[in-house]
Amino acid sequence: MRALTTTTIAALALAGCIALPQAANAAGTDSTKLPPNELVLKECGACHIAYLPRFLPESAWTRLFATLDNHYGEDATMPADITAVVRRFYMDNAGGFYWTSPSTKEIPRITAQAWWKRAMGKVEITPRIRSKANCGACHTHAEWYMGVR
Ligand code: HEC
Ligand code: HEC
Repeated sequence: MRALTTTTIAALALAGCIALPQAANAAGTDSTKLPPNELVLKECGACHIAYLPRFLPESAWTRLFATLDNHYGEDATMPADITAVVRRFYMDNAGGFYWTSPSTKEIPRITAQAWWKRAMGKVEITPRIRSKANCGACHTHAEWYMGVR
């Protein structure tokens, strides 16, 4: 029961979050004129929460932005002018967490970092949680303190 409530609250908060850029579009705002954080929320928050830049170091974001055409198996490309603004936002606000990757072919993951594994490595990923990257399944209101807004 508790789990259900958490999911519902997270979904409601997420819906509220997504309404922002839509409202801006309805008003006829050109995407490139949005403040950088709203642009990030729109572009990087479409498929999952727009993860906070401080969760990965600059070197990791560099790799991630160089491989948007094959983003964990998905195409997350966006127009070049938008990519430039979003990328700058991530680079300027990047964290200092140490990023280790078992293979140079891997795209960096927050969930592959030592601090993440230490804190969460043993939690069970049930079908309801779906993925380690689905922070909001376990952290209520994750998008408000783990995501860009
Ligand atoms: C088209 C959908 C889509 C878009 C748009 C998208 N992503 Fe993703 N992203 C994914 C998928 C799918 C995964 C893998 C999720 C999983 O493993 O469960 C992912 C994973 C990630 C991860 C790794 C999460 C982990 O496991 O630690 C990061 C970091 C990330 N995305 C950042 C971004 C950023 C930054 C942007 C904007 C530039 C972005 N994503 C846009 C689909 C998308
Ligand atoms: C399967 C459930 C689950 C998922 C999914 C999950 N977490 Fe956690 N997380 C936990 C638990 C349990 C803890 C440890 C207890 C606590 O501090 O709340 C924790 C702790 C944390 C902490 C505190 C760590 C510390 O060192 O104090 C951070 C930050 C965090 N999670 C971020 C994330 C991010 C970012 C994601 C998504 C990429 C995520 N979590 C996904 C369950 C989860």
